[in-house]
Amino acid sequence: MQITHIKQEINFTDALMARINELLSHYPADKKKSALLPVLHEVQDAHDNWLSIALQDKVAEILEIKPVEVYEVVTFYTMYNQKPIGKYMFEFCRTSCCAIRGAEDLMEYTCEKLGIKEGETTPDGMFTVVGVECLGACGYAPMLQIGDYYREHLTKEKMDELIEECKAGKIDLHNQDHYTE
Ligand code: FES
Repeated sequence: MQITHIKQEINFTDALMARINELLSHYPADKKKSALLPVLHEVQDAHDNWLSIALQDKVAEILEIKPVEVYEVVTFYTMYNQKPIGKYMFEFCRTSCCAIRGAEDLMEYTCEKLGIKEGETTPDGMFTVVGVECLGACGYAPMLQIGDYYREHLTKEKMDELIEECKAGKIDLHNQDHYTE
């Protein structure tokens, strides 16, 4: 992914700052960088699931580190998004076990159904489809990650259902009750 310079509204609410301070409390005052990964998750969650450069700069300021120390982490891990993504991001594992069990076909099917290519977002901002490397659920292939959870043993019919659940607003990206195989 490329670093983008799209404008993003930055809003460090009291609730977000309280959560950041709580995370920082787990580390020595002169080792704030140790909280970088969880802080980035919190900040991303609070900003439509992506991290603009301005937002990364703000994180650097809070953690009293150089901006480049944030950039190098954000550009390394695929769980941090550097550009706006859809409300629902389907991250298809396409590594060996999932590939053998049809991950590419499923991803293609999903892209076609949504009218986008891999890496793209639907014009209504609802869905993004990306291929990622092994998500550690190889025994449940093919699978994808959506929000904090996995959908496993996928089929085209299950993808149809998942898309409909998303459209109906039935998916809570951070609620394990929506975890299904
Ligand atoms: Fe897909 Fe490991 S190969 S989860």
